[in-house]
Amino acid sequence: MDSIVIENISKKYGDQFVLNDVSLSIQQGELFGLLGVNGAGKTTLIHILCGLKNPSSGAITMLGRDGLKELNKIKPDLALSPQETAIAPNLTVRENLAFMARLHGLSKHQADEKVNEMIHIFSFQPYVKQKSKTLSGGWQRKLSIAMALLSEPKILFLDEPTLGLDVLSRRELWQLIEKLKSHMTIILTTHYLEEAEALCDRICIMKDGKIKATGTVDELNKRANETQFEEAFIKFVTEEEL
Ligand SMILES: Nc1ncnc2c1ncn2[C@@H]1O[C@H](COP(=O)(O)OP(=O)(O)OP(=O)(O)O)[C@@H](O)[C@H]1O
Ligand SMILES: [Mg+2]
Repeated sequence: MDSIVIENISKKYGDQFVLNDVSLSIQQGELFGLLGVNGAGKTTLIHILCGLKNPSSGAITMLGRDGLKELNKIKPDLALSPQETAIAPNLTVRENLAFMARLHGLSKHQADEKVNEMIHIFSFQPYVKQKSKTLSGGWQRKLSIAMALLSEPKILFLDEPTLGLDVLSRRELWQLIEKLKSHMTIILTTHYLEEAEALCDRICIMKDGKIKATGTVDELNKRANETQFEEAFIKFVTEEEL
């Protein structure tokens, strides 16, 4: 069953297209990777799907509903961990989590339970009383992802979740994302190709607001006549026709 259907979505600023006739279907429980060079339009597409930006034209269906007209009904089932980590800098780790849990309508008791679960999963124990602005960049990203998971979303958007994480933290987060796989639909952007290869069921490669290719890593490698995904990716974003 499709979780997200994107039909002919375009986004223009002035007379410049940052998304140009993008169509995609993403299945329920799929871990879908959006890849592309800087400025390809990945974050813009995610922001449109989350209702943070309006498209100039096109249609979206999410969870069987109109993703533009019925967004208020869908929003409780969506969560975003944004590229620019969104945490309250003067709140502690525990306060940030609790605040988000209450924002999603959990009772004090439910919120406490959920917050403790996240503290455990993400190993936040040493940092719970620390103001978020004093955390390292990597720990701020982990907090941002934990906050996105509090609401148990059906669709989770992870915009560069492992940016700036050290190798160990990245591997830990991969394991966590693996565990979430199939429990929810996940749309992930990354510039780490090995991350996309390791995690994603399917990948869409974008350039200049357009889709250059969609498929599994094996399918994309075959199409580009290469065995290495990095070579295939470079071909898709540099060659005009493949
Ligand atoms: N408010 C805006 N006004 C004009 N142009 C914009 C605006 N927001 C985004 N853009 C442009 O849209 C294009 C796509 O940006 P977007 O952030 O979606 O790219 P991205 O693929 O996420 O890149 P990155 O990998 O660097 O995060 C860029 O050229 C950007 O400058
Ligand atoms: Mg981006």
